[in-house]
Amino acid sequence: MKISGVILAAGKGTRMKSDLPKVLHSVLGKPMITYGQNAIKHLNNKYVVVGHQSDLVIKELANEFKPVIQEEQLGTGHAVLTLLNSNEFINDDSDYIVIIPGDAPLLLKESIDELISESTKRSVALGIITAEVSNPSGYGRIIKDGNTISKIVEESDSSEAEQKINEINSGMYCFNKSFLLENIKTLNSNNEQNEIYLTDLIEIAFQNKLDTVIVQVSEDTIKGVNSMSQLNEVETSLREELITLHMENGVYFQDPSSTYIDKSVLIKAGSRIMANTHLTGKTEIHDDCVVGPNTMINDSTIGEGSSVIFSVLDGVTIKGTGTIGPYAHLRKGSILEEGVKVGAFAETKNSNVGSGSKIPHLSYVGDADLEENVNFSAGSITVNYDGKNKHRTEIKKDAFVGSDVMLVAPVTVGEGAMIGAGSVITKDVPPKALGIERNQQKNIDGYMDRKKPKDEN
Ligand code: UD1
Ligand code: CA
Repeated sequence: MKISGVILAAGKGTRMKSDLPKVLHSVLGKPMITYGQNAIKHLNNKYVVVGHQSDLVIKELANEFKPVIQEEQLGTGHAVLTLLNSNEFINDDSDYIVIIPGDAPLLLKESIDELISESTKRSVALGIITAEVSNPSGYGRIIKDGNTISKIVEESDSSEAEQKINEINSGMYCFNKSFLLENIKTLNSNNEQNEIYLTDLIEIAFQNKLDTVIVQVSEDTIKGVNSMSQLNEVETSLREELITLHMENGVYFQDPSSTYIDKSVLIKAGSRIMANTHLTGKTEIHDDCVVGPNTMINDSTIGEGSSVIFSVLDGVTIKGTGTIGPYAHLRKGSILEEGVKVGAFAETKNSNVGSGSKIPHLSYVGDADLEENVNFSAGSITVNYDGKNKHRTEIKKDAFVGSDVMLVAPVTVGEGAMIGAGSVITKDVPPKALGIERNQQKNIDGYMDRKKPKDEN
């Protein structure tokens, strides 16, 4: 038995009041359409009906999902008709076709599989996923004749009595392909929204006394996203689920409600995630770290046992145990070896920092290579940019850069060298030397006495 899968994703999502196509809104850091693709990626042939800003949507499709363009969005029935008439569909060799909406990111692959197995085992004309919900408003209502589904009534076409029905249509179906091909052309748009409704096929099946099957699932797996507040509901519930999973794996969360984690993030057991922490992109937190409070980490690896508090990290690799923050900003290409400390108001970028090196406060280290055990004191910076080009600073092991030093790159500080506080270093400093660049101090004796106001004399 061959099964094809289709995601309907041509709609603009008018109720979102956003220029971005609805299916591209981010849910835990991934576009909504990704969730639909994951739920049906195991099917034989896969299509996505795109329309509104189709080029943007196509960019987010996995290779095996073939886009079919629906130029005008005349309704869900029209979207499916467009697919069936398309060149992409000519060689489709399936027996059944699963159709899902692009705006229901909570859907589960398990529900789709159950829908397929119930539909194919009984050779029905169509199977449908429904749910009993506390607030059915906005959804199509399931009308039954005994236990059999007889039709679906959209909210805008419904009577008051029908509006009280709380079993709703998830928008997920499994159609017998022949039934679909034979009947889709008969759909019309005689309804309140003047749209061609896919849901009208249910009544056609019922009137022709064809077998159908309902798979009922729980309310929270079918939620559709039509507005920003529904997007938030869906994201919140996925977020809670994800954090619960991390907790089951041995990660501590101080305050899940203020913690934001992308699906792509990996956290090892024994780590403690404190309040108001954002972990995004390809981030990995290794064992026994403390992250937060008030920390943002994107696309970074945090080595075992590190602590990162009140800090912002993006594109950083901490290979060993690092001590970061409070108030540190580690930027792209910062690579920290074992035992590195980066403290308050220090910034690093595109730099390698060797084992045991310290940048404890008020510093900028950009385009630099610090070997082991370098001390980079308060107020010192690498002057890496001459207004046109970036240059590198090399600081060899055991070097001590005093406070308030400007290292004007390209420049090298030799092994074990020392730089006197307040120096502007423009020439290489040999190993073990003292590099110092400042005027001799002058003390003026009795100066303060001479400055006394006249009436005191
Ligand atoms: C639809 C169902 C409703 C169900 C609900 C579940 C119909 C007529 N109604 O309503 O019974 O309860 O989903 O969430 O099917 N789309 C296209 N082309 C179009 C129109 C829509 O591709 O011409 C796509 C949209 O991008 C969306 C999906 O189809 O991903 C559903 O469309 P939407 O307008 O959200 O339908 P609902 O009003 O929610
Ligand atoms: Ca919808």
